Amino acid sequence: MLRFNLIVAVCENFGIGIKGDLPWRLKSELKYFSHTTKKTNDPAKHNAVVMGRKTYFGVPESKRPLPDRLNIVLSTTLKPEELPESVLLFPNLEEALKFLEGKEEVENTWIVGGSGVYAEAMASPKCHRLYITKIQQEFECDTFFPAIPDSFQEVTPESDVPLGVQEENGIKYEYKVLEKQSQ
Ligand SMILES: NC(=O)c1ccc[n+]([C@@H]2O[C@H](COP(=O)([O-])OP(=O)(O)OC[C@H]3O[C@@H](n4cnc5c(N)ncnc54)[C@H](OP(=O)(O)O)[C@@H]3O)[C@@H](O)[C@H]2O)c1
Repeated sequence: MLRFNLIVAVCENFGIGIKGDLPWRLKSELKYFSHTTKKTNDPAKHNAVVMGRKTYFGVPESKRPLPDRLNIVLSTTLKPEELPESVLLFPNLEEALKFLEGKEEVENTWIVGGSGVYAEAMASPKCHRLYITKIQQEFECDTFFPAIPDSFQEVTPESDVPLGVQEENGIKYEYKVLEKQSQ
């Protein structure tokens, strides 16, 4: 069975976005996102990133599609010709996962937002780990991270996840990894 992970940066009031953008500017955190979602054990393979329409178009035009990853957008209103040729479009998460199931060249699948996609992902038995950057400050937000099911518990992350409190532009944050516990 295909398993996937989710990655998010969330602030103290559970916000993840405002006006289609991120509420904060954290360069190192963006580098962490990039490194984590690109990383593969097999250098011949790559990863997939799955996101909602607003998340895709929230990425600055010069930085999308996210490089070196298979970009998959979920939307019921977009047409394929409204996206670059390399970007795949699916009408729901199930269809996207079904497509990825048979893709040998894709090592890891990452769910990268937004709200509804995260909620659907966490409810799926295929959701393995949550990579959560906890930002220790409140921000004005209009988009929020859904409640995390109790079945996810914090685990010790792999060695390339920076430990302890990080700080940038006076904003403190910490990288956490949660894993679904078998019932
Ligand atoms: N902090 C973080 O880590 C983080 C991560 C990601 C995004 N964000 C922020 O969050 C905001 C965007 O998130 P959002 O929740 O507003 O929107 P979103 O989930 O990115 O996009 C919503 C749209 O995506 C499509 N969609 C979503 N779920 C779908 C599903 N299961 N099946 C089919 N289509 C689906 C629908 O498009 P149609 O209406 O076309 O059907 C829906 O209107 C931005 O501010 C962004 O910067 C933050």
